[in-house]
Amino acid sequence: MTKPRWPFVNKILFFLVYVHLDIGIATCSTDPLVQQQLDKVLRLPGQSFNLSFAHYAGYINVNEDSGRALFYWFIEAAEDPDSKPLVLWLNGGPGCSSIAYGEAEEIGPFHIKADGKTLYLNPYSWNQIANIIFLDSPVGVGFSYSNTSSDLLNNGDKRTAEDSLAFLLKWFERFPQYKGRDFYITGESYAGHYVPQLSQAIVRYNYENEERTVNLRGYMVGNALTDDFHDHLGVFRFMWSAGLISDQTYRLLNVLCDFQSFIHTSTSCDKILDIANEELGDIDPYSIFSPTCPANVSQSNRLRKRMNMVGHISERYDPCTEAHSVVYFNLPEVQRALHVDLARAPSKWSTCSELVSNNWKDSPRTVLDVYHELIHSGLRVWMFSGDTDAIIPVTSTRYSIDALKLPTLRPWRAWYDDGQVGGWTQEYSGLTFVSVRGAGHEVPLHRPKLALALIKAFLSGTSMPTLDLVSSS
Ligand SMILES: *[C@@H]1O[C@H](CO)[C@@H](O)[C@H](O)[C@H]1NC(C)=O
Ligand SMILES: *[C@@H]1O[C@H](CO)[C@@H](O)[C@H](O)[C@H]1NC(C)=O
Ligand SMILES: *[C@@H]1O[C@H](CO)[C@@H](O)[C@H](O)[C@H]1NC(C)=O
Repeated sequence: MTKPRWPFVNKILFFLVYVHLDIGIATCSTDPLVQQQLDKVLRLPGQSFNLSFAHYAGYINVNEDSGRALFYWFIEAAEDPDSKPLVLWLNGGPGCSSIAYGEAEEIGPFHIKADGKTLYLNPYSWNQIANIIFLDSPVGVGFSYSNTSSDLLNNGDKRTAEDSLAFLLKWFERFPQYKGRDFYITGESYAGHYVPQLSQAIVRYNYENEERTVNLRGYMVGNALTDDFHDHLGVFRFMWSAGLISDQTYRLLNVLCDFQSFIHTSTSCDKILDIANEELGDIDPYSIFSPTCPANVSQSNRLRKRMNMVGHISERYDPCTEAHSVVYFNLPEVQRALHVDLARAPSKWSTCSELVSNNWKDSPRTVLDVYHELIHSGLRVWMFSGDTDAIIPVTSTRYSIDALKLPTLRPWRAWYDDGQVGGWTQEYSGLTFVSVRGAGHEVPLHRPKLALALIKAFLSGTSMPTLDLVSSS
């Protein structure tokens, strides 16, 4: 998720951590393997089905001095985890939980029914083909915490990458069976910063230490914030061509906001963004053709709450999924099952922390320099885009890729799933672009089957399916 950059959200979020006593908290063992077993999640509340796979949840301390700990949920592949790659999924914000979005409404197996209490298995979960780590990053997000409260007011890109690297190095100590496993990082939105920055930190660490524990093979980002200038031009152009804003506003946006930072905007740019927001009306800018969730359904971060159940081809779209996770992850029995330290959990768990996003510090205006470095290091790099997102739209991603000036290896073409166009793709030297037709900001939420086809192609290093391939199989 990206921070809703139009003033959609004016809610004040209370994020006071208060302490209450709870017996029964698992104490941290010093033996990593013992701790691995302690982290194993038994049955989740609302789980009426048996599982073919194991999953684990808990904390990794990433900084002893400040007392920073990152919370993870690790879900093994449904079959034969030993032969499957390891994937880290990161949501953005900054300030949004990978468990709230990535696990509970996008690529994870455990999705939550409208009652906020009952789970069902996502038939398109990425754990069909990979072992997946969901990480709440940085501190102040989801269940991740710091014992130094000022840390929550001083998050930024640099420390996020450092803490995430520290997390991974310690995680592999707790899960030594995954050392050296093919490893990929994926994520969306503001994770367009986190993913390449963490990849860069790993590549440099491995080089300096001649290490291969974290065997990073590639990364993939979706609707990813990449380069503020090109991303902004893409947003304005998309909103104008989709018919969402006036000619006048389009012109002013280009004049007043083009060289602005995405995270730290000027007052004059904010004013015209307000006007654009008015003109958009009551739509979901994260998915411009989807119904919205009625405003009073939940207490969650987004102001747009959507309720209508709309039939898509074979899947029903529930625009209120965030509201269900707010109910579920606030249940004390759910937190206990996931080994959350109740004394250090937020008094009210939320999908995104405004405290974190509103106080975000360093946010470089571009990560294209990181792309150049990593493409040269031989990593597999993919960028995908749901083409009905107005937050970081397909036009932004195309402008940013264009700015990399990479030679084309295979030209623009449609790709297929079940004989239908799933989107479009172009393969550059060192980078593959894939769009997903009809998907919003959270591609796996809106088009779960196409998203599964995407991660399959990415992990196997093949091109997106063609029509011929489908019909001859
Ligand atoms: C789950 O496994 C238990 C023990 O093997 C069995 O008694 C139960 O019927 C199973 N439940 C389902 C829903 O398959
Ligand atoms: C935070 O403080 C508590 C209480 O002193 C301690 O139990 C916990 O281990 C600390 N967390 C970290 C990450 O150091
Ligand atoms: C929520 O909206 C519905 C429909 O507009 C209304 O009937 C209901 O009273 C509202 N509930 C609350 C708690 O505001």
